[in-house]
Amino acid sequence: MDAQPQLLRVIRLGHPVLRSVAEPVPEAWFGSGRLHNLAEDLKHTMIKEDGVGLAAPQVAEPLRLFAYWVPGEDGPEVTPSVIVNPEIKPVGDGIEEGWEGCLSIPGLRGVVPRYRRVKIKGRDIEGRPISLTADGFHARVVQHELDHLDGIVFLDRMTSMTSLAFEPEWEEYILHETDEDEPHDL
Ligand code: NI
Repeated sequence: MDAQPQLLRVIRLGHPVLRSVAEPVPEAWFGSGRLHNLAEDLKHTMIKEDGVGLAAPQVAEPLRLFAYWVPGEDGPEVTPSVIVNPEIKPVGDGIEEGWEGCLSIPGLRGVVPRYRRVKIKGRDIEGRPISLTADGFHARVVQHELDHLDGIVFLDRMTSMTSLAFEPEWEEYILHETDEDEPHDL
C-alpha cells in the first residue's frame, strides 16, 4: 500500500509561495493517504537534500506542516518527524545566536537569534495531539520551520547582515574559529 516516497523539488527565494502565509491543514485530511504521502515525501526530500528541516511551503505546498529531525551525538536525537498545524511559544526570554542555512536559500549562512527554549503544540498526521518542549538546536529548527509557514525566512530574522557568508568562505574562515558543528540547511 505504501508508495515509494517522492523526491520533491525545493523552491528557492523568489518563488511567491515562500513569501505567503500557509493555510492550516484541513481537518478532513488527518488520517488520509494524501497527508501521509505529503509527510513521507517531505521527510524523504529533507534527508536526500541533506537538510534537518523542510516545511511544506518549501515544496510549493502552502500548508501548515513541516518535517524535521535533530542530529544527536550518536544518531538522531529526534528522529525524522512531521508536525501539522504547529504553534510555538517561547518558554522564558532566553535568546541564543546561532548559524543557520536554508534549502530555499542555497549557499548562504548567517547568524540568527532564536528563543533558547520553546513549547510546540500541533498534531501528527493522524490528528493526534503533539506537545513538546524543545531547547537549543531543536528549538532553533522548529522556529526556523514555523517561520516558513508564515512566509518568513532566516534573512528576515538576522539582526545584522555582517555575518552573512557563502558556504565555502564560511567553512574556510569561520567554521574553525568557532566550536560550531557544520550546520545543516533547514
Ligand atoms: Ni529554511
